Amino acid sequence: MFFPQFRSRRIRGKEVFRRMTRETSLSVNDLIYPMFSAFGSGIQKEISSMPGIYQQSIEHIVAEAREVHELGIPAVILFGIPETKDAVGSDAWCDTGIIQETIRAIKAAVPELAVITDVCLCEYTDHGHCGVIRDGDVDNDATLELLAQEALSHARAGADMVAPSDMMDGRIGAIRSILDENGFSRIPVMSYAVKYASGYYGPFREAAESTPQFGDRRSYQMDPANRREAFREAQQDIEEGADIIMVKPGLPYLDIVRDLRNEFDLPLAVYNVSGEYSMVKAAARNGWIDEERVVLETMLGFKRAGADLIITYHAKDVARWLRK
Ligand code: PBG
Ligand code: ZN
Repeated sequence: MFFPQFRSRRIRGKEVFRRMTRETSLSVNDLIYPMFSAFGSGIQKEISSMPGIYQQSIEHIVAEAREVHELGIPAVILFGIPETKDAVGSDAWCDTGIIQETIRAIKAAVPELAVITDVCLCEYTDHGHCGVIRDGDVDNDATLELLAQEALSHARAGADMVAPSDMMDGRIGAIRSILDENGFSRIPVMSYAVKYASGYYGPFREAAESTPQFGDRRSYQMDPANRREAFREAQQDIEEGADIIMVKPGLPYLDIVRDLRNEFDLPLAVYNVSGEYSMVKAAARNGWIDEERVVLETMLGFKRAGADLIITYHAKDVARWLRK
């Protein structure tokens, strides 16, 4: 009869040994919480496909920002739902736009909470695309100008960091230079460097009211089949001055997270997107999975794959569970 020399179960057998030999850890410091700020007042509208996540007017956003800070979460990322939309997304770079007012309100009430802003046009354009349209497609270089103005306007309003999610070529460079030229050389850029054209953004588009009115985003977001292209995207953004790079979505792209971790030394973020959240919530509501256990396991999966930061709608729950 054969008996093994080495037995993994010797260490596994006691909780104290498991604790001592645990390779990956999850901390509240790793979390970034997304919020949707809507024009108006007295608004607190739950997104039907994202239980627990709301479109809120500024006073409610500020109250939640306080709660987020008290939970120890270091940062939020903001998305805006403007009063009006137009072909070029004017509210996006207006100094009194929805996001600019939201930034000022949060920074006045909870100055220690880091405010990151999503820089894109899709929430502000009436056609729902991430840039200006010419000949039926998003015009790259015309969009760069507007994104740069938007990022500058966020910085002027007091944003601590900007995060372009549009996927135009050259936007990191365009944003870095306009920030530097205007005295904001200390504001970091977190690039949605590797962003795939994904079905998992469905619920977000309800939340941000940003569904494209024609076509889709495949002419600017990445093809889910591509891996080599992720290196090129990340490399280019780093050369243009990105301070943090991101992979999005999270769960179906953990191989890409690991690839970038191995290849680059910058802080790496992963976006656990809306559809990933909705699936967990739906299963949990049906009693099909143990929500706390599944969410914490998922977060650990991101860390194990190599992510430093996790943008997640579960952030407040995770912070509470980690305290127990
Ligand atoms: C806007 C943007 C999107 C997300 C973040 N920023 C949607 C999109 O590109 O269609 C998705 C976030 C999520 O699904 O949670 N460009
Ligand atoms: Zn967009």
